[in-house]
Amino acid sequence: MEKLYVDLGKHSYDIKFTDSFAALPDALREINAPKKLLIVTDTNVEKLYADEVLTLLTENGFDASVYAFKAGEEQKNMNEILGICAACIEHGLDRKSMIVALGGGVVGDMAGFAAAIYMRGIDFVQVPTTLLSQSDSSVGGKTGVDFADSKNILGAFHQPGLVYINVSTLKTLPPEQFVSGMGEVIKHGIIRDADFFTYLENNSGMIKTLESGALISMDKTNCSIKADVVMRDEKENGIRAILNFGHTIGHAVESAYNFKMTHGECVGIGMIGASHIANKRGMIDDMTFERIENILRTYGFGTRVKLPEKERVYSFMQKDKKKIAGKLKFVLPLNIGEVIQTTDVNKDEIFAALDYITERE
Ligand SMILES: NC(=O)c1ccc[n+]([C@@H]2O[C@H](COP(=O)([O-])OP(=O)(O)OC[C@H]3O[C@@H](n4cnc5c(N)ncnc54)[C@H](O)[C@@H]3O)[C@@H](O)[C@H]2O)c1
Repeated sequence: MEKLYVDLGKHSYDIKFTDSFAALPDALREINAPKKLLIVTDTNVEKLYADEVLTLLTENGFDASVYAFKAGEEQKNMNEILGICAACIEHGLDRKSMIVALGGGVVGDMAGFAAAIYMRGIDFVQVPTTLLSQSDSSVGGKTGVDFADSKNILGAFHQPGLVYINVSTLKTLPPEQFVSGMGEVIKHGIIRDADFFTYLENNSGMIKTLESGALISMDKTNCSIKADVVMRDEKENGIRAILNFGHTIGHAVESAYNFKMTHGECVGIGMIGASHIANKRGMIDDMTFERIENILRTYGFGTRVKLPEKERVYSFMQKDKKKIAGKLKFVLPLNIGEVIQTTDVNKDEIFAALDYITERE
């Protein structure tokens, strides 16, 4: 089985890549997982995969139960965290027990956060089932919930003990969720790896038809890029911030749409906005800018979006928790595979980028 080692000292873990759940019990044994497990999932993933995973774990000697909360970003709040903690108590989880997060980024972020605070922190593993979670959110240890109109404003760093990626789960993923995940995948190519970007340009057919080998290879490269950045900067004090490419404008678009557009689609639009700023500054040439827009189009992204008035979008940006000394932080491309962070992007440049990404009637 393909695997990747994330070296974070005593918080190190493996990411395993395969196309079924069959090897999950062995992967759990390898990390000396306790018998007592709570599988935390959402109602959509519960219907698709919870029985299979529960049966597999039970047949292999684990004392596992399932807790599912209603699917959707709206559920990513403290009430649902308390629901997960109540389920931990109800199922008798103690300090040595473990949570298995089975689902997309919402499940991973919430189950991870519950694991971070239940009994002052218990172990958890990630079994991500969306492309976004397989290529991004399950790696890195950021967990948390939304609060007071701000995304992920409450949370904790809590590294998983294992990430087990079964790419065959992507076959049941709604197409718009696949596109959303591709936003983070493409982002990784632009910020760190020109060869990977070219791979994505040249292999869109196999990737879009969900060929297992292509997905495993894509997920592995992705996780290695994310893991490499996280290993250099576990708590986002420096280089990890480049992962926010596309997010300054992307988060504002997400807020403008009241979280009704997928995260990845918003990041896609945000990457075009940031690339527009870089292009106007002469940091990237027209051809590089075109390649960025083209690859997004190839993988099904809308490259323009209806937006409220620019001042309103700008006001959403001001709520960005990643501001430095009150200044907005932007990640801008210097080339495919290389980006810089800056806080000197001015309002005129931002408004010009918002104009560029706005869909005309
Ligand atoms: N922790 C991090 O570093 C990090 C990074 C990026 C994003 N995130 C967070 O991730 C979340 C978005 O994650 P997401 O896009 O995976 O959303 P999600 O978890 O809401 O999943 C999207 C939808 O797909 C369904 N689903 C999941 N797996 C499925 C499958 N295999 N087949 C069919 N349906 C399936 C879910 O029930 C849900 O309805 C956001 O809350 C975002 O803030 C976290």
